[in-house]
Amino acid sequence: MNNEKQTDRRNFIKNTSLVAGSILAAPILSRANYFSGAPGVIKIALIGCGGRGTGAATQALSTQQNVQLVAMADAFKDRLDESYNNLLEALPDKKDRIQVKEENKFVGFDAYKNAMALADVVILATPPGFRPIHFTEAINQNKHVFMEKPVATDPAGIQKVLAAAEQAKAKKLNVVVGLQRRYQSSYRDLMKRVEDGAIGDITSAQAWWNNDGVWVHPRQAGWTEMEYQMRNWYYFVWLCGDHITEQHIHNLDVINWAKNAYPVSAQGMGGREVRVGKDYGEIFDHHYVEFKYADGTVLNSQCRHQKGTMSKVDEMLIGTKGKVFCDAANITDNKGKVIYQFDKAKENQPYQNEHDELFAAIAKGDYKFWDAERGAKSTMTSILGRMATYSGQLVEWDKAINSGINIMPKTFAFDAMPPIKPESNGMYAAAIPGVTKYFV
Ligand SMILES: NC(=O)c1ccc[n+]([C@@H]2O[C@H](COP(=O)([O-])OP(=O)(O)OC[C@H]3O[C@@H](n4cnc5c(N)ncnc54)[C@H](O)[C@@H]3O)[C@@H](O)[C@H]2O)c1
Repeated sequence: MNNEKQTDRRNFIKNTSLVAGSILAAPILSRANYFSGAPGVIKIALIGCGGRGTGAATQALSTQQNVQLVAMADAFKDRLDESYNNLLEALPDKKDRIQVKEENKFVGFDAYKNAMALADVVILATPPGFRPIHFTEAINQNKHVFMEKPVATDPAGIQKVLAAAEQAKAKKLNVVVGLQRRYQSSYRDLMKRVEDGAIGDITSAQAWWNNDGVWVHPRQAGWTEMEYQMRNWYYFVWLCGDHITEQHIHNLDVINWAKNAYPVSAQGMGGREVRVGKDYGEIFDHHYVEFKYADGTVLNSQCRHQKGTMSKVDEMLIGTKGKVFCDAANITDNKGKVIYQFDKAKENQPYQNEHDELFAAIAKGDYKFWDAERGAKSTMTSILGRMATYSGQLVEWDKAINSGINIMPKTFAFDAMPPIKPESNGMYAAAIPGVTKYFV
């Protein structure tokens, strides 16, 4: 399952195969915090109407429940309009579920608040830098949440998400985080076998997200610096977290899942070797990190965005009795003999399943999903790795998560200056291992 690897985000919706589920009889909603007027209708708001947000809304609208999209919010009107049109195109037989009046299409940095207020469930799919703010507001407004990974880009954001996660639990608000391997049949099957002892004790692990990289949106005349960074968000750490956070989180999360733990420290190396130039902001194009867990288990993690290099997106676990190969979906003994093979014909569509399970629970009034804490801790794992590669130092989890480091702008406005500015030659200063300090 290659997920983002093969996904052109802007065309996500065109590539996503949808469940052609019919609309079954609408269930009666039992929970007190539903806003909906019509019985059985679950209203959703989409915050961040890009490739993934549009895909997630499509999947929410394709569940068996009577889900209606009633509000949309985006920083930019063109992105919102494009998403709205893509949804109508993707769901020709469900147009009645797309009920977004013009006055309920909100644009700008504060758009999320108004959109959330109209819904029962919110989909958060902006660049991850905004997630802590949006998730906190959603929980304050008593909404169930589907939010994309990563859930923050800095330790201050992680703490904010953890605090809101506690609130969500207290309020019994379901929260699903888009780490879709957790909703994928082969991964669930393999992880259950690991838990049941199929490979003995895990002693080490490997994780890879190596490929060509993603889109780039070069600067256009008339854009302020803030607009440019927001539109080309992948390349700015405050918005994206670097690709170790934005993509490799999927693989790191699988290892955390298998270990049922989070690393205590990380050290590694990385840099910008190939993907350099004005359009590529400040992020690295490769990271190699050695994460350590409390029991001594080592996770060797690598991620690379360099065109023309070998592609590999996968995870592997090494135990005292055997090994798990996630992409192959099999288990071998320590001599390499396959002792279990998941039947790939039984694989599900994890992006759809996230929404099928979430909306089924919500419709029944069940409280079944509390993904925010583990989503935050796996995001923190990736941030820990970034701190290690940027600084070239050994970085400890406790120190890092409690560091209070906050890399977000103080002011959100298109005429405000983001936290990183271009130098006189139009280039952005990237981290320099041995010079960049995280703890001073
Ligand atoms: N689970 C997966 O496999 C997967 C796949 C793709 C993307 N994602 C995640 O989804 C998120 C979005 O990625 P994408 O590929 O859709 O990016 P995108 O650029 O296509 O969409 C992001 C949208 O958010 C809007 N936006 C930015 N700041 C905003 C703000 N403050 N308020 C409202 N709207 C704002 C942008 O204008 C844009 O329309 C990211 O966190 C990404 O990591 C997850």
